[in-house]
Amino acid sequence: MNLARSFTALNKLLGFVQISRTCVAQSHSQPALTAETYNVKRGNYSTANASDLDAFRNIVGDNNVVTEASELQGNNVDWIKTVRGQSTVLLKPKTTTEVSRILKHCNERKLAVCPQGGNTGLVGGSVPVFDEIILSTQRMNEVISVDPFSGVMVCQAGCILEKANQDLLEHDLIVPLDLGAKGSCHLGGNISTNAGGLRLLRYGSLRGSVLGVEAVLADGTVLDCLSKLRKDNTGYDIKQLMIGSEGTLGFVTAVSILCPQKPKSVNVVFLGVDKFEDLLLLLRKAKQDLGEILSAVEFVDSDCIGLVGKHLKLVNPIGEYEFYMLIETSGSNSQHDEEKLSSFVEDIITSQLAKDGTIATDFNKMQSIWKLRESVAEALTHDGYTFKYDVSLPAHVMYDMVHDTRKHLKGLYNSVVGYGHLGDGNLHLNVTCPEYNKTIASAIEPFVYEWTAKHNGSISAEHGLGFKKRNYISYTKSKESINFMMKIKQMFDPNMILNPYKTLPGNID
Ligand code: FAD
Ligand code: MLT
Ligand code: ZN
Repeated sequence: MNLARSFTALNKLLGFVQISRTCVAQSHSQPALTAETYNVKRGNYSTANASDLDAFRNIVGDNNVVTEASELQGNNVDWIKTVRGQSTVLLKPKTTTEVSRILKHCNERKLAVCPQGGNTGLVGGSVPVFDEIILSTQRMNEVISVDPFSGVMVCQAGCILEKANQDLLEHDLIVPLDLGAKGSCHLGGNISTNAGGLRLLRYGSLRGSVLGVEAVLADGTVLDCLSKLRKDNTGYDIKQLMIGSEGTLGFVTAVSILCPQKPKSVNVVFLGVDKFEDLLLLLRKAKQDLGEILSAVEFVDSDCIGLVGKHLKLVNPIGEYEFYMLIETSGSNSQHDEEKLSSFVEDIITSQLAKDGTIATDFNKMQSIWKLRESVAEALTHDGYTFKYDVSLPAHVMYDMVHDTRKHLKGLYNSVVGYGHLGDGNLHLNVTCPEYNKTIASAIEPFVYEWTAKHNGSISAEHGLGFKKRNYISYTKSKESINFMMKIKQMFDPNMILNPYKTLPGNID
């Protein structure tokens, strides 16, 4: 309790300000066309003509067929402004039936389609490469049902994560997923990328909490796997193929998610740490001592804190250290949780594992600490062109990757930083440079993928492969697995109209 009090005293010095957690749109200039930068060959698809547009207007209404170039600009460019497509048609259906009719038409005409949710994806999967029709979930935003007893929420795919979470709070429930893009990303997009995020340590992967998915296949068939059951062992679990398939197997129209109770007591600790090895010891001790109330363990390095300070004016509440660790607890009894946390904090300060820290128990201070962690992605976009990596690695080698990348690139960069979901063994290695060019690109890749494979990691822990990483899949998946993926794609989408140039290697034409 003494240390908790001393941290509370520190808190008073912080001058925290309330900052919206909603994702901020980026504003710098447009990237070059993806097809040119990466020399991609257009697949053998038709081009939408006037009679296709008439057919679409007939299905979704005039207002929901967008063809104005200025209105389409944002939908053609990804969130980190690194890829740009050339679509001339954006469709905004409202119902599953409308999606089904659109896809049936596109399949018959061999028109390629790019599914899009909140367009916060970080691997170029959510924007077209050429003139794919953008099929958006932005109007599919109805919560269909919430059962406060079972905790099951059923909703359309276009529900925004943060809004769904707010709606659930009325029932004392939360979405078992949280991430920095919560104010913009859609649940359908989350499921299609199998997003990991900040709560995975506690609530596990969406593969466990998504109970059901409704999806429309390329030929318009509605695949109704929208179960609300916790247990269902009747044969193959087809919804798992939709989870994480990045819009290449079907268009997700609705989801059913098992949502946990809203925790009654939440606390956040922010620690300053000298060595990465100490972060690992702290992680182990947090698991041992905080046990069932531990809900997140994240880290950022000192360069990340420098960047959020420089570009976003966010204030670091403690002194300067090599690493910073954010530990969150979520439980049902504040006295019990605070006692546990205070005793943990007392031990780690006495043993000098953590050099400094602050405990936040009130909402605004917790938000401010979370903001420091969640804003790293945005701060990096102000630091230059961002090469973003999202790898799973054994925890003990995680930060070696950052050191080795710095050494390997010999100063060819603005920043090389490491941060991420420490508790899940998920490192975000990011390299920023003044601009994209082939020299730096080929210095970084395949170096980072080789490094990951050599250490038995995965080249994508949570963001997926999308456009940018599809041709590196073999660093993680075996030849046999990739062949099976190709066969599955053939079966679900024989004309290859769904999100071409994504996930699977090579040009699919
Ligand atoms: P989009 O970006 O629109 O699409 C993503 C992919 O899913 C694309 O391939 C698209 O074609 C496909 N898709 C979208 N909707 C559908 C649909 N209805 N049916 C079929 N396919 C569809 N990701 C994490 O995993 N963890 C994080 O912590 C995290 N933090 C982030 C923080 C920030 C600031 C940002 C900008 C992104 C972050 N992301 C994170 C990445 C991104 O937010 C997630 O991948 C998110 O799940 C994407 O949702 P979306 O609705 O924006 O999907
Ligand atoms: C995060 O954990 O902050 C996100 O995955 C975004 C990123 O990798 O920058
Ligand atoms: Zn992440």
